[in-house]
Amino acid sequence: MARKPMMAGNWKMNNTIGEAVVLAQNISNNYDDRWEDQVDVAVCPPYVDLKPVKTVFEFDRVPCAVGAQNVFWEPSGAYTGEISVPMLAEIGCAWCIVGHSERRIYFGETNEDVNKKARALLDGGINPIVCVGESLAVRDEGTTIEFVCAQVRAAFAGIAPEQARRAVVAYEPIWAIGTGRTATPEQAQEVCSAIRGQLGEMFGAEAAEAMRVLYGGSMNVGNAALLLAEPDIDGGLIGGASLQADSFVALVQACL
Ligand code: 13P
Repeated sequence: MARKPMMAGNWKMNNTIGEAVVLAQNISNNYDDRWEDQVDVAVCPPYVDLKPVKTVFEFDRVPCAVGAQNVFWEPSGAYTGEISVPMLAEIGCAWCIVGHSERRIYFGETNEDVNKKARALLDGGINPIVCVGESLAVRDEGTTIEFVCAQVRAAFAGIAPEQARRAVVAYEPIWAIGTGRTATPEQAQEVCSAIRGQLGEMFGAEAAEAMRVLYGGSMNVGNAALLLAEPDIDGGLIGGASLQADSFVALVQACL
């Protein structure tokens, strides 16, 4: 596979600073020399944990990046409770998740918001991990591909190809998140391939071939190998299994 695989942990709203530092240290203790060249590893903790976790990885010189789970698109101002791209950049965040289904469902995030966030991140030097994925109702209707491709088109609207290449797309079917019900490798491959096709229409085949498409949704040590063997699945965005160092590290090793 020409694309470098990526394994990212989305810690969601888990881990106080103390817990986050312990988890980061446990990941760092199990680091493998091959990570540096062969896989992009990232963890996305809650905002308050970003700096402490980044400090652990820096101190231990472990090639594990940190990413945020959300961002606001304005650079500063009267937006109580929000966090900006420059704030994340100063911490040294390499990545930021946008458009996670939990944010779309619980916090009303729209496709337009996702696009504004992705653009602000790219302008500010942080790589977005753009999440897309269908509900069970959409899957049952048989309109998954159209739905997911529309999300991709909206998220990347107005973005230039050279910027888009830095982004990663994560296909996370909502019905597979936290349910223990993983998409089959064939189901995941079908949608990830369609996502790449959509990226190709927008940015050209060469850019689309270079961009990473991850799978997320109950991915674990037991099912990762078959998912990662699919030609259009370039890694994983991991929820539950990223909260224990041993399972997260095993998932990173599965990319080697
Ligand atoms: P689970 O791995 O817990 O299903 O969560 C996936 C996810 O939402 C990652 O962003």
